[in-house]
Amino acid sequence: MSQEQWTAIDEYLNQHYAPPDPILEGALKNAAEQGLPAIQVSPLQGKFLMLLAQMQGAKRILEIGTLGGYSTIWLARALPPNGQLITLEYDAKHAAVANQNIKAAGLADKVTVRVGPALMTLPQLFAEEQGPFDFFFIDADKANNTAYVQWALSLGRAGSVIVVDNVIRQGEILHAQSEDPAVVGTRQLHEYLAHEPRLSTVALQTVGSKGHDGFVIAIINRV
Ligand code: SAH
Ligand code: DHB
Ligand code: MG
Repeated sequence: MSQEQWTAIDEYLNQHYAPPDPILEGALKNAAEQGLPAIQVSPLQGKFLMLLAQMQGAKRILEIGTLGGYSTIWLARALPPNGQLITLEYDAKHAAVANQNIKAAGLADKVTVRVGPALMTLPQLFAEEQGPFDFFFIDADKANNTAYVQWALSLGRAGSVIVVDNVIRQGEILHAQSEDPAVVGTRQLHEYLAHEPRLSTVALQTVGSKGHDGFVIAIINRV
């Protein structure tokens, strides 16, 4: 199987399960026009996240890594009328584009973008007692993923779901000698999760238009 085939199959599946959506396409167009990198989740991955959040019955969602708000819009669509999503973004320009896209999606009343490095904004959320969040999507700088999962444990509750993106990295995670901070951080994350008794965790490989990658999916155990 090749990237060409994975992309063709994603296109076939998109036609069935993620047909053209003017709001999501407008968000991608706006982000591209303003020079943001096209590293958002794929349409099928976005729908997967939405369905996971719906299955969880999530009323409060915390996302780490907003970019232009593409995954944010998918996740916010899983919320009930009184639901809330907070999304954390380091780059003020990304946050501004995301705010435009969230507004255009009619989700401004449910979504708040917090600008700053997540290792600064997460303790602020904790101090403000913004938790517990029911669902976490972690998709920012991969070097800090272990810290982000630990923050999710502090800001979650028994039964909260934690999803982490990009945990396979085209198979790069097999390279124990890698000096790529994203690979080092991802290998640290898997080591940490393997020994974290407060979580039940799995990692799943994915292929598609974004190549070969994967998600960690974890649930905070009832003690
Ligand atoms: N979740 C988005 C993609 C996020 S890309 C989607 O699928 O649509 C990763 C984002 O994380 C980028 O916008 C980047 O600026 C942001 N980021 C990187 N380091 C960060 C940090 N330390 N704190 C918060 N956000 C960070
Ligand atoms: C990158 C980041 C992501 O979150 C992703 O899904 C794909 C690529 C990146 O930094 O290159
Ligand atoms: Mg990602």
